[in-house]
Amino acid sequence: MISGYPVRIAGTGRYIPEKVMTNFDFEKILDTSDEWIVTRTGIRKRHFAAEDEKCSDLAYKAGLAALEDAGIAASELDLIIVATDTPDTVCPCTASKVQGMLGAANAGTYDVLAGCTGSLTAMTTAIGGIASGIWKNVLVIGSEDFAGVLDWTDRSSCILFGDGAGAAVLSRSEEGKGHFIAAELKADGAKHALITIDKEEGREDPVLRMHGAEVFKFVNVHLPPFIKNFCEESGVEPSEIGFWVLHQANTRIIDSLFKRLGVPTERTLMNLENYGNTSAASLMVTLDEAMESGCIKSGEKVLFMAFGAGMTLGAMLYEA
Ligand code: ACO
Repeated sequence: MISGYPVRIAGTGRYIPEKVMTNFDFEKILDTSDEWIVTRTGIRKRHFAAEDEKCSDLAYKAGLAALEDAGIAASELDLIIVATDTPDTVCPCTASKVQGMLGAANAGTYDVLAGCTGSLTAMTTAIGGIASGIWKNVLVIGSEDFAGVLDWTDRSSCILFGDGAGAAVLSRSEEGKGHFIAAELKADGAKHALITIDKEEGREDPVLRMHGAEVFKFVNVHLPPFIKNFCEESGVEPSEIGFWVLHQANTRIIDSLFKRLGVPTERTLMNLENYGNTSAASLMVTLDEAMESGCIKSGEKVLFMAFGAGMTLGAMLYEA
């Protein structure tokens, strides 16, 4: 359970690049079909960054939108964290580039690399730092630019991913406003080879590889008990949670999770069909869309969940 200063979500934002690739576009370059992709994943289309758009560009636009929504100036930020699997460069961190673009002169910076659990991991560390009094305002951004790391001949992976960025300003809360209640991160590092972005013989650039069926099995076995235990330790029943902000990887994974927890599917917002899996961006984009469409009501409990490369798992509980 989180103690110290209460921490709230002060504002959110997102940026989705313009270029769209539908399942029908994939039918033209791969031995695949719209029907296969929709039934197995729930994805209908995804967006990709333009040639001259990098992870930092997407992150900057989402960050700017979150600052506007929160009504605070970039100069009031104490820290910027960018969660990504596809940084502009390994060094310097993408968060530093974004800090420069935003003119957030008083903010420290770092990147978090934890697969699709990246932005939840970043939020957890931001919450810890705000609760303990180190920081007051932290901008957390999840941003991905997958186009460069996908193998466009591998139908089992390239159809799954998409680009985008989502952001949230987390701030020290005043009484009566929202606050985070609990957070938990887990990993099974022995399974790290299930999803990788790494160099390969015969290829100049690192490439994404995923053992999809094994990932699917791992998540279906470990996710439901992880969320069940997290709820138990946080003192809530899954049925008491008003809204679920979920990492968007596969509709079948979410359907099966909700079935096992006895949660009605209308308690979440799914956008997988429009964006595909945007990894570290996915949770933040979903949060922003949920805030914008009024899905999250004041006083309601909200559960955040993510899983991904590593193999990492994470959950957070928030009272809006
Ligand atoms: N179109 C048509 N057929 C395909 C395609 C495609 N795009 N991709 C694979 N197939 C074929 C396979 O070749 C296989 O054919 P075979 O039986 O003749 O060998 C068949 O479909 C079944 O393949 P599976 O991989 O077993 O399919 P599955 O039902 O498991 O679905 C999927 C694949 C969608 C990838 C699923 O396993 C999945 O969603 N896994 C989880 C992915 C995930 O959640 N990742 C999250 C983390 S990502 C991160 O952290 C960066």
